[in-house]
Amino acid sequence: MIYNFDEVFDRYHTSAIKYDFKKERGKPDDVLPLWVADMDFKSADVILKALSERLDHGILGYSDMDADYFDALKKWFGKRFDWTVSKEWLISTPTIVFAIFAAVRAFTAPGEHILIQEPTYPPFLKSITDNDRVPVINPLLSRDGKYSIDFDDFEKKIVEKNVKLFILCSPHNPVGRVWTESELTRIGTICVKHGVTIVSDEIHADFTTPGYNHYVLSNLSPDFEAITVTCTSPTKSFNLAGLQISNIFIPNPTLRKAFAKQVALTGHSHPNIMAIEACKAAYTNGEPWLEAVKSYIYENYLYVEAYLKANLPQITCTPLEGTYLLWIDFSSLGFESDRALDDFVTNEAKLWLNSGSSFGAGGKNHMRMNIACPRSVLNQALTQLKEAIHRRL
Ligand SMILES: Cc1ncc(COP(=O)(O)O)c(C=O)c1O
Repeated sequence: MIYNFDEVFDRYHTSAIKYDFKKERGKPDDVLPLWVADMDFKSADVILKALSERLDHGILGYSDMDADYFDALKKWFGKRFDWTVSKEWLISTPTIVFAIFAAVRAFTAPGEHILIQEPTYPPFLKSITDNDRVPVINPLLSRDGKYSIDFDDFEKKIVEKNVKLFILCSPHNPVGRVWTESELTRIGTICVKHGVTIVSDEIHADFTTPGYNHYVLSNLSPDFEAITVTCTSPTKSFNLAGLQISNIFIPNPTLRKAFAKQVALTGHSHPNIMAIEACKAAYTNGEPWLEAVKSYIYENYLYVEAYLKANLPQITCTPLEGTYLLWIDFSSLGFESDRALDDFVTNEAKLWLNSGSSFGAGGKNHMRMNIACPRSVLNQALTQLKEAIHRRL
């Protein structure tokens, strides 16, 4: 194997959010971290080499996206998603969360209603409430652990609340769904019908498991293209979150102008030089590494699934169609509150996972586990969980 994803790196004392701030985040020293969505793998050598060459040059001045940068993006999205992007659609922001906050201000006024689906990636809700807009929740339906969209509720709430903006997570964090072409078409059709702008957060687009295809919503029809802001980034795919770069595509010039204005009002102008180099290298030469890491993570998923079946039939995980985040259901263990479940996972299993309640109402009795780590770490986590649950039974 060319890549050794089994290698365990010590990430302590590297300023890593995942490891180094336990006390500040109210966690005991001895918890094993499988929470925030970055990977415990070294990024691709081709990217590290490009970064190192830029450092060797030694000048880290103001920089911008050049023709090579756009060319790398165009080839990547063309090859992987059959999506032809135009240069003028592109606006760079430091992060996708930054872009979502800007989009909320660009496309709605204070007091207006914005639709999201729960369970939700927490910054979606925060971008609405922190900007004095009003969240409208379309709860995802869960049947036997598989999630789907309640389209009747989706359309009814848009009409009743005069919703102006919908923030879509595709593929979905935390429930791991990769929306089908037909689900995305229904979403787009309803939003076109009622004049709703869509922010489609597709940061997890590269992470689909075998048998699942990611479709770029904006690419499904010219009508969808006209109402959609597509948020993309190489940072999840190539483990570059600390570099902060995202590529936001907005074909509609009116939406683009409004968005660009909000970005400019934050004072942001140019991307980070190291992020530019990393993104170019990732999209030009990083595909073999990405495919290898995806296979490893998929094996991790199969490993967890088999482990739970054999050792912990009381808890189940949602089928992983996309992302590297497992959504685990603890309801049959009968914890009296989310707080009690959190306490158990933290203090008995000694794990640092994301608490389901942080994803909104639909997160009750759930935990999110990041499985982008060496298998030995995953095995350690599962052993700790098994021993804690067996002590409790
Ligand atoms: C759906 C989703 N959007 C955005 C982000 C964060 O991206 P960024 O660091 O570019 O803000 C994450 C990270 O977990 C995510 O899951």
